[in-house]
Amino acid sequence: MNLLLKIINKKGTIIRYLYYPWRKYRYRSISLSCVISCTNSITPEYVECGERVYIGFNARIQGIKEYNGVTFSPRIILGDDVSIQQNIHLTCANSVIVEKNTAIAANVTITDIHHPYTDINVPIEKQNIEVGTVYIGEDCKIYNNAVILPNVVIGKHVTIGANSVVTRDIPDYCVVVGIPAKIIKRYDFDTQTWRKTNSEGKFID
Ligand SMILES: CC(C)(COP(=O)(O)OP(=O)(O)OC[C@H]1O[C@@H](n2cnc3c(N)ncnc32)[C@H](O)[C@@H]1OP(=O)(O)O)[C@@H](O)C(=O)NCCC(=O)NCCS
Repeated sequence: MNLLLKIINKKGTIIRYLYYPWRKYRYRSISLSCVISCTNSITPEYVECGERVYIGFNARIQGIKEYNGVTFSPRIILGDDVSIQQNIHLTCANSVIVEKNTAIAANVTITDIHHPYTDINVPIEKQNIEVGTVYIGEDCKIYNNAVILPNVVIGKHVTIGANSVVTRDIPDYCVVVGIPAKIIKRYDFDTQTWRKTNSEGKFID
């Protein structure tokens, strides 16, 4: 069994090496150490990967260059050692940045696009999109099914609980959960412990 796994691993590495020139040609930037599993859809020309980026199965990572005749210049930046598990839905018309060492679990949505519903005479899907930015700091952990909405800045070393919807900025060293995601814990540098907080991040224990 071990031998079989070793052979499969080696085969994977060889395929990655052979495939690399094609990847390098297609991606805005990518290194040999990146592992990209079979994707659902991806626009590699807008994706910049650092070293050792991992993207799991069935990812949709899409830069939107045109919507309703309006053109965009999307930039999707995944820092060193970013890992993304299966079924990510990442759409970007302007800028989505995920800093190094951030881990994204399964079924997470990240988008810098909002579909306005303002005009009741035009189907929502046909109204012009509003475009923002998403910035996710380094060392974060984003758990299953979380949704990160446009115009959000997530700080360093933040944990985002399963099923959370992040609608506003999150400071460094926090744990957030819920819909909308609220701070429940923050690191206290004085006591060097994680302490419970109210939703404004003020310590309550
Ligand atoms: C975010 C998370 C890491 C928090 O862990 P923690 O700091 O140990 O939190 P606690 O267990 O102390 O819970 C603190 C409070 O938040 C609540 N809470 C925890 N996770 C929550 C979530 N995802 N959504 C809503 N509330 C949550 C708890 O019920 C608890 O509420 P209480 O104070 O009213 O009792 C964890 O709960 C989580 O979401 N893990 C996801 C695990 C997962 O999906 N794993 C698979 C992928 S690897």
